Amino acid sequence: MGYEILTFLSLTTIALSGVLIVSGLIFIKTGRKEYHKKAMLSASFFALLFLVFYGLKYFLYPPKHYEGPYKDLYLFVLISHSILAAVNLPLAAVTVFLGLTGRYSKHRRIAPITAAVWIYVAVTGWIIFAFLQMGELG
Ligand code: HEM
Repeated sequence: MGYEILTFLSLTTIALSGVLIVSGLIFIKTGRKEYHKKAMLSASFFALLFLVFYGLKYFLYPPKHYEGPYKDLYLFVLISHSILAAVNLPLAAVTVFLGLTGRYSKHRRIAPITAAVWIYVAVTGWIIFAFLQMGELG
């Protein structure tokens, strides 16, 4: 698969996942539990699709490094993004599991953390992409 198409697919799937998480939060805050469930399961599906496209891209076209003027900021965003992306996977799995098995009081306790981490990872993913577009590629 070509570089452009993989870039497009990873950016759209992670963006969709982020939009669905925010929608899912709005649904639960307004009491629409069934929509909440559907939105969160779809968000998880798109996040997994993202991992497939991103993984493919990573192996087929190893990423270049940002060499622009904001290198410290870039590294901070990149490192925090990578750590939280790794944390997000088990966190999301546990949150979905607790929701699907009806353990709602535990679900309510962990879910806000999952949502915050997830949104941070999605937004910083786009920021890293923007950095790589703007900075000189080394
Ligand atoms: C990673 C995915 C998910 C996230 C980030 C998430 C997030 C949240 C959050 C933040 C709340 C609490 C809202 C509040 O206290 O105002 C909540 C509640 C709830 N979630 Fe999820 N959720 C996810 C997946 C699911 C799934 C798959 C289900 C499946 C049934 C589900 C069912 C519920 C229910 C029923 C409540 C209300 C619990 C209650 O009334 O005590 N959630 N969720």
